[in-house]
Amino acid sequence: MPMTRNCPITDLQYLTRDVVSITLEAGELAQAAKPGQFVNIKCGEGLLLRRPISICDVNGTLLTVVFQVKGEGTQWLSQCQAGEELDVLGPLGHGYDIPQGKVLVVGGGIGVPPMLYAAKCCEAADACVGFRSEENAILLEELNAACGRVLVTSDDGTIGAHGFVDALVRKALSEERYAAVFACGPKPMLKSVYHAAKEGNTPCFVSMEERMGCGIGACLVCACSVGGHHKHVCKDGPVFNAEEVDW
Ligand SMILES: Cc1cc2nc3c(=O)[nH]c(=O)nc-3n(C[C@H](O)[C@H](O)[C@H](O)COP(=O)(O)OP(=O)(O)OC[C@H]3O[C@@H](n4cnc5c(N)ncnc54)[C@H](O)[C@@H]3O)c2cc1C
Ligand code: FES
Repeated sequence: MPMTRNCPITDLQYLTRDVVSITLEAGELAQAAKPGQFVNIKCGEGLLLRRPISICDVNGTLLTVVFQVKGEGTQWLSQCQAGEELDVLGPLGHGYDIPQGKVLVVGGGIGVPPMLYAAKCCEAADACVGFRSEENAILLEELNAACGRVLVTSDDGTIGAHGFVDALVRKALSEERYAAVFACGPKPMLKSVYHAAKEGNTPCFVSMEERMGCGIGACLVCACSVGGHHKHVCKDGPVFNAEEVDW
């Protein structure tokens, strides 16, 4: 069940020029969090809506989110300080169902953070992650600790292999059998990862990102088409079986 809590910030760090990691003392909210779920954080007094951010990591009652500074809400969030409290609603949405066996987690850019907690919750996991360039790379140390192997790619070749992440997915799937592929990132990336998983006969689950309002299924802002039906990304997702998404 989602709950609202005032959560003290225990740590705030810049991972890159515009990507920030915030760790919160979130009590039972953290303990209830499943991989692929998100929290809705109130960003300032004046802004009407909360902002959805994926759960990146959970350690006991500590919950970490990692976000890119985009507009007014995330700008406000990035200027908070350790010791201040955030008004957090969560855990929200339907996350990844963890299968038995090894999972291949796939993240692109700011889609990488939720893959860390997903990898940690699996029996075993490997990761394929893609960034625009070396200066945008995040969470590699943490992924290396959580995964058997971590394959990295970048659009400009400054870190890892040169190219897109779906090439790595094809390589990993040709070398090893996985129970599932979990992916989060931009929609074109999700679509190509889905095709790579389908070629490799591996079930694929993707985290879809839509603009959100309420975050709890009440406003229709986040509607998307899945299997010919309108679904709420906030409540029915954000994780969907890629086979059912109307790409
Ligand atoms: C389920 C889910 C999980 C997410 N997880 C992360 C994450 O882990 N890290 C991260 O950096 N970003 C994540 N996002 C995107 C993040 O919510 C937006 O970047 C953020 O809301 C932008 O708010 P803003 O006020 O800074 O920007 P503005 O552009 O000023 O926002 C204006 C309005 O648009 C909405 N909005 C803008 N962009 C998005 C977006 N991409 N998705 C949803 N609503 C949006 C905001 O909620 C707000 O109502 C996630 C989005 C969803 C839906
Ligand atoms: S954000 Fe309101 S219904 Fe999904």
